[in-house]
Amino acid sequence: MRFNLPSKIQENALPMMLAHPRQNLIAQSQSGTGKTAAFCLAMLHTVNAADRWTQCLCLSPTYELALQIGQVVEKMGQFCPEVKVAYAIRGNRVGRGYKVQEQIIIGTPGTVCDWLMKYRVFDPQKVTMLVLDEADVMIARQGHQDQSIRIHRLLRADCQMLLFSATFDEDVMRFAERVVPEPNIIRLRREEEALDNIRQFYVFCKNKEEKFTAICQLYGILTIAQAIVFCHTRAVASWLATSLSSEGHQVAMLSGELTVEQRAAVISRFREGKEKVLVSTNVCSRGIDVEQLTLVVNFDLPVKQSGDTDNETYLHRIGRAGRFGKQGFAVNLVDSGTGLDVIRQIEQHFNRKIAKLDLNNCEEIEELWC
Ligand SMILES: *[C@@H]1O[C@H](CO)[C@@H](O)[C@H](O)[C@H]1NC(C)=O
Repeated sequence: MRFNLPSKIQENALPMMLAHPRQNLIAQSQSGTGKTAAFCLAMLHTVNAADRWTQCLCLSPTYELALQIGQVVEKMGQFCPEVKVAYAIRGNRVGRGYKVQEQIIIGTPGTVCDWLMKYRVFDPQKVTMLVLDEADVMIARQGHQDQSIRIHRLLRADCQMLLFSATFDEDVMRFAERVVPEPNIIRLRREEEALDNIRQFYVFCKNKEEKFTAICQLYGILTIAQAIVFCHTRAVASWLATSLSSEGHQVAMLSGELTVEQRAAVISRFREGKEKVLVSTNVCSRGIDVEQLTLVVNFDLPVKQSGDTDNETYLHRIGRAGRFGKQGFAVNLVDSGTGLDVIRQIEQHFNRKIAKLDLNNCEEIEELWC
């Protein structure tokens, strides 16, 4: 799998996750730092393949992320064919009386709750490791937080708990301390450091038509492997996807209205490179690992309903590029004076410069890009 050296989180977390006696862990870790590989390895290490029941449970806030974690487990575990993964996600139905034989269950809190409480398809008392991934996203949804706590209550007190979160505000800490007793705590690089691989720009555009032109210009000038464009609404996303297609771009679109199967298919096609541009509403700013992704465009800047600049969403969106240690680019399309204020706040928040880009100056762009 082309691992050469452990990443920082792997180096710090693996010895604790694999220790005897078992140790609990709370770890702060950004996307793209190798945490998924770390806890997948821990799950694979911990299961007894001869036992045909669930021993590891991994909770993820989204369907997409659950599938991605599963892919890592399956790849890392390819030489342990007797270790199997079950996905407790929307659309995967189980009946009463069914018993899960897979040693590892990866799922979202809602479906895991159903599997446990409604259908009783596995025994929580036999689970020896619980992984809570992206706990900050999880607790942002009250429902997920409650479900996670209900699931947690059914587990044995000595079940090993591993919790990962990109941020560590008070809410996350309170939740983490509630579900992870006597934890080891690892707090790695400050989130700003995750931005080191990403060069950030902004472009002034009067309206959505100019924004569309800007994207086409970027494509004209640059060699872009793959790009994600984030739009605020479904309507704008559809309009943009249609406009880009009619310019001859291969475009995929992701929004909340797709069914589970459709979303999975879109992401998997994009990952295979069948489409070069993914237009998305905010539903998927997290969890999509696409190695070829070089450019993230904020067609609309991330702003909360209150009008406040959404620094976290910004980080998670642009963090899609610049992963796996590769250089990435973020271009923000700004259409008003308040948009510029948002850019200034983001600059201030992350202490990184966002440079103005003049799309009529090709030379400058090529220079900035290199
Ligand atoms: C985002 O960061 C800026 C600059 O630090 C800050 O003024 C703003 O309040 C932050 N937004 C939120 C929602 O916290």
